[in-house]
Amino acid sequence: MRWQEYPYNFEGLDKMLERISSKKIALDRLRPLPSIALKSIKESLTLEWTYNSNSIEGNTLTLVETKLIIEEGITIKGKSLREHFEAVNHQVAIEMIESLVDKNHLLNVHDILIVNGVVLQNIEKEYAGRYRTSGVRISGANFVPPNALKIDDLMTELINWVNEYPIDIVIKAAIVHHRFVWIHPFFDGNGRTARLIFNLLLMQAGFPPAIILKNDRKKYYDALNNSNNGDYSKLLLLVLQALERSLDIYLASLTNTYEDYLPVSQIVEDPHIPYGQEYVSLLARQGKIDSFKEGRNWLTSKQAVLDYIQNRDRNRTFNS
Ligand SMILES: Nc1ncnc2c1ncn2[C@@H]1O[C@H](COP(=O)(O)OP(=O)(O)O)[C@@H](O)[C@H]1O
Ligand SMILES: [Mg+2]
Repeated sequence: MRWQEYPYNFEGLDKMLERISSKKIALDRLRPLPSIALKSIKESLTLEWTYNSNSIEGNTLTLVETKLIIEEGITIKGKSLREHFEAVNHQVAIEMIESLVDKNHLLNVHDILIVNGVVLQNIEKEYAGRYRTSGVRISGANFVPPNALKIDDLMTELINWVNEYPIDIVIKAAIVHHRFVWIHPFFDGNGRTARLIFNLLLMQAGFPPAIILKNDRKKYYDALNNSNNGDYSKLLLLVLQALERSLDIYLASLTNTYEDYLPVSQIVEDPHIPYGQEYVSLLARQGKIDSFKEGRNWLTSKQAVLDYIQNRDRNRTFNS
């Protein structure tokens, strides 16, 4: 059987696809998403993506260390330069993927080479962003990746399939993920590049990125081995679970956000808020609290004001 025709069905697949599709519709209804909330969810998912994708491949940085490196430019004592570069490179690669999302962009070979080049920059001199030129083995895998001479054609076939074949995008993304690592076009960075490219497809379809968690590494490798044997179902399930988790994260924080937002006049009635309406409105206008304007009113939340107070107190302590 050809790889395009391997089965992927499992019990409950239709239900799961339906649920995911209704969560996506719910998310789309909230658009345009409030920018402050969006920024914070995006940042935390991006960090998780970088941490988990690198960690699956053996990077020993923790989530917090990864965050310090990416957001603060701090170096972590005892960790190799390579591990630092892996964190930073992955972050840059995500930004690159994001820049391709808006443009109704058709995937091409160039994208894949560039993404791999970024993943391996400052780490691998000769082969970053270049297909491998000889054979490789994947440890623990139940197959040997194809001869290096075939990579060009196999990748072209895959990319054409991605751009032409009419099939649910989520199923397509899972199949691409597998086919990519099966071809194993690079000496290194295949897993990270595959997870970046497959998320590009999901994000182009309006989904958040699906993050394969480090904790699911064994399940993930089993699922890949099943796929090598001609059955995508385990991998599809894993991908759908990852995707649903990201949708849940978005929906939870955005809907909470919305429910808690009230006009400033109501927020200040809460006995825990030590400010009057005028002052809170001022903070809102100045962008000092999480808030947004609806019609003529500023909406904010009790939590936003309390966060402001807490931050202000902390800054005082620092400055004194
Ligand atoms: N049994 C397997 N079958 C197919 N692909 C596999 C298997 N085991 C691992 N892989 C893929 O190979 C990737 C590791 O390849 P590698 O080139 O080292 O990528 P990276 O450097 O990003 O880790 C894994 O992330 C996974 O996607
Ligand atoms: Mg590797």
